[in-house]
Amino acid sequence: MDMTRTSAWPTLGGADTPVPAGGAHPARGLGGARAGRRRRCQHDRVPDLSRMRRDYTDGVLREEDLAPTWVEQFDRWFGDVVAAEVPEPNAVVVATADADGAPDARIVLMKGYDEAGFIFGTSYASTKGAELAVNPRAALVFPWHALQRQVRVRGRVERIGDAASDGLWDPRPRGSQLAAVASVQSTVVESRQELEERVRLLDAQTPPGPVPRPAIWGGYRVVPQRVEFWQGGRDRLHDRLQFVRDDGEGGGWIVQRLAP
Ligand SMILES: Cc1cc2nc3c(=O)[nH]c(=O)nc-3n(C[C@H](O)[C@H](O)[C@H](O)COP(=O)(O)O)c2cc1C
Repeated sequence: MDMTRTSAWPTLGGADTPVPAGGAHPARGLGGARAGRRRRCQHDRVPDLSRMRRDYTDGVLREEDLAPTWVEQFDRWFGDVVAAEVPEPNAVVVATADADGAPDARIVLMKGYDEAGFIFGTSYASTKGAELAVNPRAALVFPWHALQRQVRVRGRVERIGDAASDGLWDPRPRGSQLAAVASVQSTVVESRQELEERVRLLDAQTPPGPVPRPAIWGGYRVVPQRVEFWQGGRDRLHDRLQFVRDDGEGGGWIVQRLAP
């Protein structure tokens, strides 16, 4: 997109720097006397984002409410989000970093959790796979807006092994198995057509029934070092309680409250 074009963008006092959708002028920031006159949005459907706010009053998370372990607490909240019929409750943002520390993030579907950690399936040959090969640590965010909650996790990452990876692969429908084999995740392709052709060829060459899991596809486990439970609070005085692995003698976990 040519960001120097101004025709679609409102301008501030003759400045021809574009104003981002709903946001402040990049050079001048929010507030000030001009704020009232400024047209902030490029589309009529986009409201004034500086005024878009909702108070979080749905719940509280006090120390006495917290389950004894992070996994039991996660279990409770995951139960709540499933019961609330939130779409894709197991969709989670996974952040990784490359060898230079450059961050990266994407959504995956969390396919299991227990005391050992959180599991997702992917291509080991993908960008995230390459990043995890050189820097086997990740952060997760479960963004459960409907319940005014988020869960954040940080920890090391390990591959889950062949048998467990088969357990993630086998329930996938054949079409999605074919697509995962035909698409070398995160590589540049010429066109959509090329991908569809690869899937068609593979389908023709593969005996009917389940497609064997390729060695480059498998599961990762994020082994938590800390797990934070965030509940939105009135006037932005949110509750943040985190379990932190105690690396001292005896191991175990400690619970801390964080300022919002
Ligand atoms: C709702 C949703 C669920 C997704 N689930 C997965 C998944 O379970 N595994 C996966 O590899 N990619 C999944 N993706 C695609 C990833 O976001 C991403 O495009 C892909 O993994 C390539 O990421 P990378 O290039 O950083 O490796 C999902 C995307 C969305 C929006």
